[in-house]
Amino acid sequence: MRKIILLMSILAMHWAAAQQQTSPDGNVVLSFSLKADGTPTYKMTYKGKPVINESTLGFTLKKEEPLTNHFKVVSDSKSTFKETWKPVWGEEKEILNHYNELLVQLKQDKTNRLMNIRFRVYNEGVGFRYEFPTQKELTYFVIAEENTQFAMTGDHTAWWIPGDYDTQEYDYNESKLSEIRGLMKQSMTDNVSQYVFSPTGVQTALMMKTKDGLYINLHEAALVDYALMNLNLDDKNFIFQSWLTPDAKGDKGYLYTPTKTPWRTVMVSDDARNILASRLILNLNDPCALADTSWIKPVKYIGVWWEMITGKSSWAYTDDLPTIKLDEVDYTKVKPNGTHAANNDKVRHYIDFAAKHGFDQVLVEGWNVGWEDWFGHRKDYVFDFVTPYPDFDIKALNDYAHAKGVKLMMHHETSGSTRNYERHMKAAYELMNKYGYNSVKSGYVGDILPIGEHHYSQATINHYLYAIKEAAKHKIMVNAHEAVRPTGLCRTYPNLIGNESARGTEYEAFGGNKPFHTTILPFTRLQGGPMDYTPGIFETEVKNVNPNNTSQVRSTLAKQLALYVTMYSPLQMAADLPENYERFADAFQFIKDVPVDWQESVYLEAEPGRYITVARKDKHSDNWYVGNTSNENGHTSELLLNFLDKNKKYEATIYADAKNADWQTNPKAYTITKQKVNAKTKLKLTAAKGGGYAISIKEIK
Ligand code: NOJ
Ligand code: CA
Repeated sequence: MRKIILLMSILAMHWAAAQQQTSPDGNVVLSFSLKADGTPTYKMTYKGKPVINESTLGFTLKKEEPLTNHFKVVSDSKSTFKETWKPVWGEEKEILNHYNELLVQLKQDKTNRLMNIRFRVYNEGVGFRYEFPTQKELTYFVIAEENTQFAMTGDHTAWWIPGDYDTQEYDYNESKLSEIRGLMKQSMTDNVSQYVFSPTGVQTALMMKTKDGLYINLHEAALVDYALMNLNLDDKNFIFQSWLTPDAKGDKGYLYTPTKTPWRTVMVSDDARNILASRLILNLNDPCALADTSWIKPVKYIGVWWEMITGKSSWAYTDDLPTIKLDEVDYTKVKPNGTHAANNDKVRHYIDFAAKHGFDQVLVEGWNVGWEDWFGHRKDYVFDFVTPYPDFDIKALNDYAHAKGVKLMMHHETSGSTRNYERHMKAAYELMNKYGYNSVKSGYVGDILPIGEHHYSQATINHYLYAIKEAAKHKIMVNAHEAVRPTGLCRTYPNLIGNESARGTEYEAFGGNKPFHTTILPFTRLQGGPMDYTPGIFETEVKNVNPNNTSQVRSTLAKQLALYVTMYSPLQMAADLPENYERFADAFQFIKDVPVDWQESVYLEAEPGRYITVARKDKHSDNWYVGNTSNENGHTSELLLNFLDKNKKYEATIYADAKNADWQTNPKAYTITKQKVNAKTKLKLTAAKGGGYAISIKEIK
């Protein structure tokens, strides 16, 4: 009897003991263990310091018993993986994917239901997901809530935006975790007066810094057929808990075994640059699913756009809204409003400008019928995505562009109606193929239709991926605005070349972005994939474009150049009007020169909310480009150009804020200087308040 008890207690000790896995470099240690009641938990350390305190894992379900406790470990296994893969486009030409894995297989007492947790431990953090194998005890199930915790070790500083089911277009806040509750109300956008689900709910990617200098980032990877995860903070104990986006019924997910959740990610480092250099999110996604990617090409583009955003001209063709019935209207018979931007003459002018200055594409918004009523009435059939306005000759304009080596970029504003878009998608993509478009900017402004669904509920998330996969069949690249923030899916579907899904440059025409905005986005929004930030606004006084718009771009002109380097994207717009580029032709040269695809990226300096300085090497030459963006206090950098090839000589062109530049009082004051440089050169450069600098470094042959 004694022996049996001894054996049982040894066994119990074994199962209660933590399963551990460490990162390849040994710095990150992940431990999994069950509590006495069989609740699964994990914790994590970095260089011996706690990063995540004991945090519980599990789910509550709509009908069935919760999957939260009474678990036993059935088995655990460890493995190592190391590979190098080549992205179709990216910040570097090769990416190392190296992790140690721990797979814990769990079985719940009495119900016999199986749930596995797979942890991948990288040098820069951990990704883990739940997996549900095929089993008769669990087939279809409905998630009431995912109960994944991320227990912080203290009252960290966080760069956060409010939790939301429909938008990420917020300015960031920098505060202690304990201050989120108080600041939440102030941080809501104009049209939202209340927090969406909790006074301490925030979005991912969430960036934090501890008192002792650890940088921590919480996000997710490979969000497929599942609802987006927000985080809800218990601000007494500093514990975040997952908060999934509900559907119209309030349910949070429909699952069918075998299935798996997206990866939950915790990145950590004592050097902020490592967070920016990490490819953990991409690595957790599946390899490329497209057999042929030769048609996917990075794009630098201009567009008939800023003049609508600033209110100077319109997307709509007519103002005769009350007198026309949209689904019956003959547009050739209504009175034009005279401000319709997407007209033949203007588009030809933009094509000429693009051809002259070497841009790949011209985006044209407002080319198709329906804009008169697209928002107000919430009808779900206003756009068909195939019928041009009478002053937009789709064939002639595409022919004109192609003859000059330029493509037009398609625009599909769905007005949030995923149903209507799916109805018309095939015809819309076929029209693009017919006229030679290979990229589409799509958008999901307004509440999602069908009514009650959210931008980030499971069904809508499935829609975005459906649109990407269908586009791939037509060799079309997708840049979706207002869609879910990316989670690295561009590795699997590299025709997803861009998203907005954050507060972009458009808000510079609606009152402005905080000057520190672009020193945070690379730590947060850009972790999941590139952003179509639409930089390059040189005329920072918006009233000089539209006298009725008093907004001021909260940036210096030099900083607008830097964004092409600091805000990595294979799709970059030069968003200002052609005439503004002509006024500042010398500064415009940087936008013309800067590549949109890279073989190497070196993060020189980084501090969230303060500054980011990055150097990148062109994918197709030995030229380098450097960018710095700074917050409202400015920043002085001392750079050593030791990333340059030791055996080569270069000429640097430095586009910097002038001495007296300031985003508020003197934003357009810049200097352009040239000097010979090599791998030993040191440069001391100062970014003005709300400023930055950009450098092109070209090899002297
Ligand atoms: C919002 C997008 O972010 C913007 O770029 C676009 O012009 C408008 N929607 C209209 O589709
Ligand atoms: Ca937007």
